[in-house]
Amino acid sequence: MQKSQTDNDLTQPSNPEPLNLNGVAQKNTFAANVQSLGLNQIQRHVFLCADQTKPKCCSKKAGLEAWEYLKKRLQELKLDQSTEAQPSLIFRTKANCLRVCAQGPIMVVYPDGVWYRNVTPEAIERIIKEHLIGNKVVEEYAFLIHPLPEIVPSCEKDFPEIVQAELPHQHSANPDVEIGLEQGTGQ
Ligand code: FES
Repeated sequence: MQKSQTDNDLTQPSNPEPLNLNGVAQKNTFAANVQSLGLNQIQRHVFLCADQTKPKCCSKKAGLEAWEYLKKRLQELKLDQSTEAQPSLIFRTKANCLRVCAQGPIMVVYPDGVWYRNVTPEAIERIIKEHLIGNKVVEEYAFLIHPLPEIVPSCEKDFPEIVQAELPHQHSANPDVEIGLEQGTGQ
């Protein structure tokens, strides 16, 4: 079967980086970052409107305060990293605007599709404990529940293997996982 442009786009950047020494280093950094971020172990993905270019749903200060609190608490509770006891993790992303633009800071938790408003640090604490840990929606702050439909796109390649193939051959304790030499960074 002939591959479509979309298939190619998934594996080949339209402007591939040159394969000189720097290119190789960047490729290894990319693969190591993908690995160290634990992208294939994400259980939930939290988007929070913060640090907006045009603050509308809340002040820039309130958005940043919420973001710093979310980041700090996920780190303190080790929810943003996988462990032997808990192999899945919570991934966080600071969104410039979630387009609701009122009653912010606005936050959405996927794949649950639960939208929250007025997420002050106090609200975030409850959402972390009751929703992200306890699997119970915090109704006081939720204004919409719309889980995304489960659609699995067809793909002929096994992407985790592609990522591993780009890494230097350094073996981890888990024989199914190969690790890179560099650690990724988060904001
Ligand atoms: S500015 Fe926060 S949702 Fe648009």
